Amino acid sequence: MSKPFVLAHLSDPHLGPLPRPGVRELVSKRLFGYINWRRSRRRLHRRDALDAVTRDLHGRQPDHVAITGDLVNIALPAEFVHARRWLETLGGPADVSVVPGNHDAYVAAAGIHRDQQWSPYMAGDVPVDDPNSVGTFPYLRRRGSVALIGVSTAIATPPFIATGKLGEHQIACIAKMLDDLRTENVFRVVMIHHPPLPSARHKCLIDAVAFQRALAAVGAELVIHGHDHVHSLVWIAGNSGRIPVIGVPSASAVATTKQRAGAYNLYFIGGSLGAWTCEVVSRGLRPSGAVAELNRFALSW
Ligand SMILES: [Fe+2]
Ligand SMILES: [Fe+2]
Repeated sequence: MSKPFVLAHLSDPHLGPLPRPGVRELVSKRLFGYINWRRSRRRLHRRDALDAVTRDLHGRQPDHVAITGDLVNIALPAEFVHARRWLETLGGPADVSVVPGNHDAYVAAAGIHRDQQWSPYMAGDVPVDDPNSVGTFPYLRRRGSVALIGVSTAIATPPFIATGKLGEHQIACIAKMLDDLRTENVFRVVMIHHPPLPSARHKCLIDAVAFQRALAAVGAELVIHGHDHVHSLVWIAGNSGRIPVIGVPSASAVATTKQRAGAYNLYFIGGSLGAWTCEVVSRGLRPSGAVAELNRFALSW
């Protein structure tokens, strides 16, 4: 039996500490986010917790790392530079795939800084026709027996709203990519920040129903997401088999509850078309601060 492909999945690092913002940078939704960070979030998202998690991840030597958004907090230009440096500690752009979250689009101007710093980590294998076009979603990367489809739900929203949206065009492109790959010997993984599931109105994926319908029609072997900052597994009914949708906690969350403490998943992907296997291993922070295995189970479609 051949060696499984090991995909690591971490999300929502919400990298700190926050650089000191200029007064003009706070004349926006950022002001609310900055107050929120100072009041509470900086104690929930800790660099030492994140470092412990990523140290453990490095030790497992995954074949690829998928990061499902919310790398930054209030989308200050300096945060994107900081996040780029952090990404480089995880690996080069060929070995690490990123999709953005709502915090990475905290204000409308965020996109320019995000693309400047992160575009090599958010690019498909085949460059898009327009050489000036960066950060185009969805993107497709093939690594071994795995096809990674990175999508963006990141949109700027008013204060206290954390919704996401794919849009009709992106949903159609994702469906086509998945459909084209359906008969190939590849394990199709969709990377998305917002879970494509029913959720509270202020933080939901606005077009979750339309996306679920598209997924059901063409199928996918795995959907991975962040945003909820909690371990989760939900199955979506598909026309030719069910689709697992898996969420992980924030990788930088200090251990408060077992479901929310900083963690990441490893997916051991083996088999072949029609007979895939995938073992899911969750590793994360224990109350002691040590990182250990939290859960292990096999997917069956
Ligand atoms: Fe988040
Ligand atoms: Fe989020």
